[in-house]
Amino acid sequence: MKIKLKRYQKNDFKNIDRCMVQLQDFLVKIDPLKRLLRAPKYSPQYANNILEKVAKYDGVIFLVYDDKKIVGCIVGIIEKQSDKNLLECVPTRAGRIVELFVSSKYRSLGIGKQLMSKMENYMRKKKCDVIRVEVFEPNKAAHNFYRKLNYQDRVIDMIKLLK
Ligand SMILES: CC(C)(COP(=O)(O)OP(=O)(O)OC[C@H]1O[C@@H](n2cnc3c(N)ncnc32)[C@H](O)[C@@H]1OP(=O)(O)O)[C@@H](O)C(=O)NCCC(=O)NCCS
Repeated sequence: MKIKLKRYQKNDFKNIDRCMVQLQDFLVKIDPLKRLLRAPKYSPQYANNILEKVAKYDGVIFLVYDDKKIVGCIVGIIEKQSDKNLLECVPTRAGRIVELFVSSKYRSLGIGKQLMSKMENYMRKKKCDVIRVEVFEPNKAAHNFYRKLNYQDRVIDMIKLLK
C-alpha cells in the first residue's frame, strides 16, 4: 500500500467524481426510507457543483491515493455568516465539511482521521473558530467517527412521511 494525500488539481476531476458517486451509492443503500437516489445526471453534475462551491467559498479538496488509485477525499468550505444569522448568533467564522469519503477496503486504517486533521488545519489557517459537518442520521458509523474526533451534535433535522 502506497498511501498519499494531495490537494485537488484539475486533473483529479475524474477521481473526485468517482468518490462522489461511491459516497452517494453508499447513502442510498443505508437510507431506510428509500428517498435518496443517484439521478442519471449525478455524474458529473454533482462534482461540478462541488468545485463551484469550493471556488466561491474559499474551500479546499484533499484526495487520498494508493499509488494511482483514488481511495478517499474530503471537501471543505468557509461559510459566510449572513446578516440574518448575526441577529441570533455570535459573530463567527465557520468551516464546513461538505463531503468525506474513504473507500470501503481502506476504512479503519486512519485515513479518515488524517483527512479530518488536514481539513481542520486548513480551517485554522483560514481563521475559522468552529468547524461543522452534517451527518445523515442512519449513518451511525460516520456519527461515531465524528464523535470520536470530539464533534458534538448541534442540530437535529426531523422528518415525517405524510399519507
Ligand atoms: C466515516 C469514514 C470517513 C471514516 O473513515 P475511516 O478512514 O474508516 O476512519 P479512521 O480509520 O480514520 O478512524 C478514526 C477513528 O474513528 C474511529 N471510527 C471509525 N469508524 C468508526 C465507527 N464505525 N464506529 C466507531 N468508531 C469509528 C476509529 O476507531 C478511529 O479511532 P482511533 O483513532 O481511536 O483508532 C469512512 O468510514 C467512510 O468513508 N464511510 C462512508 C462514507 C461516509 O459515511 N462519509 C461521511 C459522510 S457524513
